[in-house]
Amino acid sequence: MKILIIGAQGQLGKALYDIFKRKYNVIIKTRQQMDITNDELVSNEIIKIKPDYIFNAAAYTDVEKAETDRDSALNINAIALKHITKASREIGAILFHFSTDYVFDGNKTEAYKETDVAVPINFYGETKLIGEENVRKGMDKYFIIRTSWLFSERGTNFAKKIIKQGMENKSLSIVTDQYSSPTYVLDLASAVERMVQHINNGKKFEYGTYHYGGLPYTNWNGFAKKIIEIAKRENILSEDVKVKEILSSELDSMAKRPSNSRLDCSKIKRIFGIEQKNWNEALDHIIFNLK
Ligand SMILES: NC(=O)c1ccc[n+]([C@@H]2O[C@H](COP(=O)([O-])OP(=O)(O)OC[C@H]3O[C@@H](n4cnc5c(N)ncnc54)[C@H](OP(=O)(O)O)[C@@H]3O)[C@@H](O)[C@H]2O)c1
Repeated sequence: MKILIIGAQGQLGKALYDIFKRKYNVIIKTRQQMDITNDELVSNEIIKIKPDYIFNAAAYTDVEKAETDRDSALNINAIALKHITKASREIGAILFHFSTDYVFDGNKTEAYKETDVAVPINFYGETKLIGEENVRKGMDKYFIIRTSWLFSERGTNFAKKIIKQGMENKSLSIVTDQYSSPTYVLDLASAVERMVQHINNGKKFEYGTYHYGGLPYTNWNGFAKKIIEIAKRENILSEDVKVKEILSSELDSMAKRPSNSRLDCSKIKRIFGIEQKNWNEALDHIIFNLK
């Protein structure tokens, strides 16, 4: 069983490698080794390696910068999926592609299901949605896993940014009007491993789009308060660091964010028996390890 991880140096790429290297033959490609915007290279490499599974963890993930650096975001998140799916289809590989809660506009009051219409409100979300459509048009044996608010001990993410800001300032202002859920990358990678095991064991499943995120749902302010609380307990931050509540309208940001992008993850549970994990436990663990 051969697995190819593309975008292997990102948060998710590294977590997938950590989980899958234990039992599988894993080949990894970083951006330097395989730039997914290079059509010919992607095709040649995939056909040469001939993996059974391809995990595409490569993406343009800077939501704010995507508003101005439009060509790069579009090429990486959308156009590149045409080449990846073409080569995957040619060799009969199963593709796992990752997408985002930011494909939704946030106007729904409940959590979003896979069947809900996606209408992005920022350019990053637009490029990710076109990427999803290119996967659906390009092949049949695919999984699109939409996730939210990834965090880990590595790379750039909200948890690490909040701790850094808490070290530099005594007062942080974080929004209360954007709801979704933090997802620990190793929990997501483990969910993908359960899906692969399920398929390899010959159990019943369907290809298509799935949601997977952590629990409980919260807003960025609630997430920040939890991060600060743990960091204080671990003596990483001083007791006088405070988190102030603000609204998105008070932020000077170019990219709009949905007020509600909570993902309903009941489909992955129904088809693959995968339960959402509580992100609080992982947060405790990673902040403890930052010491
Ligand atoms: N981060 C989140 O909060 C979040 C939330 C929802 C969904 N997602 C989705 O989850 C997936 C994984 O996100 P992540 O947080 O692991 O992202 P990440 O840490 O930013 O990693 C993305 C990786 O893709 C690489 N990459 C960028 N352009 C590339 C190219 N042209 N060719 C090959 N590799 C390229 C990056 O390399 P460089 O570092 O060299 O640029 C980086 O290693 C993405 O599909 C993302 O859209 C993320």
